[in-house]
This record gives sequence, C-alpha cells and structure tokens, in this order.
Amino acid sequence: MADSRKPMVAGNWKMNGSLALLKSFSQSFVSDNNAEVVLCVPSPYLAAASRSDFALGAQDCSQFVAGAHTGDVSVDMLKEMGVEYVIVGHSERRQDHGESNLVVAEKVKTILQAGLIPILCCGEPLEVRENGDVNAFVADQLAAVKTVCTSDFLDTCVIAYEPIWAIGTGKTASPEQAQEVHGFIRKMICEWNPKAQNTRLLYGGSVNASNADDLFAKPDIDGGLIGGASLKIDDFAAIIAAAK
Ligand code: PGA
Repeated sequence: MADSRKPMVAGNWKMNGSLALLKSFSQSFVSDNNAEVVLCVPSPYLAAASRSDFALGAQDCSQFVAGAHTGDVSVDMLKEMGVEYVIVGHSERRQDHGESNLVVAEKVKTILQAGLIPILCCGEPLEVRENGDVNAFVADQLAAVKTVCTSDFLDTCVIAYEPIWAIGTGKTASPEQAQEVHGFIRKMICEWNPKAQNTRLLYGGSVNASNADDLFAKPDIDGGLIGGASLKIDDFAAIIAAAK
C-alpha cells in the first residue's frame, strides 16, 4: 500500500444493532492509530454514536439537498450529527431501492458539495463474475460518477469494491481475486486523475478476523468495508489491527 494512503476500516452495521450494542461498543472500543476507523450506524443511532476515537459514517443520503422526500435524510442533517463519511451506492441500496448508476453519481455529487466524504461502493453480481466482464461492469459504475462529478471526485472519495456474491455469504473473494480488480480500478482512476494514487480502495464482502490480514496485505487494498463482522467488537478490533 502506498505510504500516502492511511489504511481505513469502515464498519457497516446495515439495519442491525441496537442502542445497547452501541453502548457496549463505546465502552470497549480502543482506537488504533495505524488505521482510520469509521462506524456507519443506522441513522437513528447517529446522535448516540458521536465519539472522538472513530469517525462517524452514514449508510446513505438523499441526492437532494432538501424538500418533499419523505423518509430520506439530507447531507446537511448528517453533517449536523457529526457525520464525516457517507456510504453510497451499496449493492443493497441498488437492489432494494432501484438506485441506478446515475442516482448514485448524483448522491456522490451532493455528498462532496456538502464537504463530506463518500464511500462509493461498486462490484459485480455472480452472473457477471461467472459469465461476464467484471472490469467492464465496475468501470461502468465508476465512469457514471466521473461523468456527473468530473474526475475531481477522486481527490476526496473512498472507493469500496464489494463483489455482490461475497456480501454476507461467507464467500470472500480470494486476496488475488480482490487485488486483480483493485489493481484494475487503480490503473483506471489514475488515468482519469493522477491524484487517484492517493485514493483509498477498500475491499468488502465477508471480511472477517481470519482473512483480513491476507486481504489487506495486497498492494491496492487499503482496508475494508465490514458488514457482519463489524457487529462483533472482538472481530472488528482484530480486523482493525490487521489494517496497517
Ligand atoms: P459483509 O458485508 O461483511 O457482511 O459481507 C459487507 C458490506 O456489505 O458492506
């Protein structure tokens, strides 16, 4: 990993957890200076999660700044709650809420305009992995963001490569498979914007305490976006320790 890229571990609780779990996290969480730690809790818990030893993340936001969008949450509201990072384009949002590449790109633009940092997710479904072109699929997802935001988005954005077939399935991409796509993404984004040498690329998809070391050892994997294992404090701490 390039020295300029500080490792990052972002926990994505999804629609899991409770105030009690958050409290136990807060009591036992020990920060680690080697890695930047982000905790993306469900929106109702943001106020209770504000802390100084990890950065606060949201799991989504509206592409609109304000207005008649019942149930949605704006970037300014997130900012008021102390949020610094916003996951955007997670495959579960794309699937459950029909978010297109264009909507995701508009969200990235709104997040950047608010001065927040997007954690932009990309990654292919199983049928593309088995019968299609993984690189072309991921390139399309990222190119849509470049079209709307210009390649300047790479100055700030964190990118998470999350093959959908590996999310929550216990079926992790091998470190070699993950590095292959990360290497492709790195090359492409550096052609778009030379500063992308400093863009952090996280791997996500069934990262756990036993496989994190091997994944994070790869040159273009700068940390992880962690779902299930971020709900278990000991596992999450072990993953953070692996990111150095
Ligand atoms: P997982 O989820 O670690 O449970 O596979 C990762 C994610 O969806 O961000």
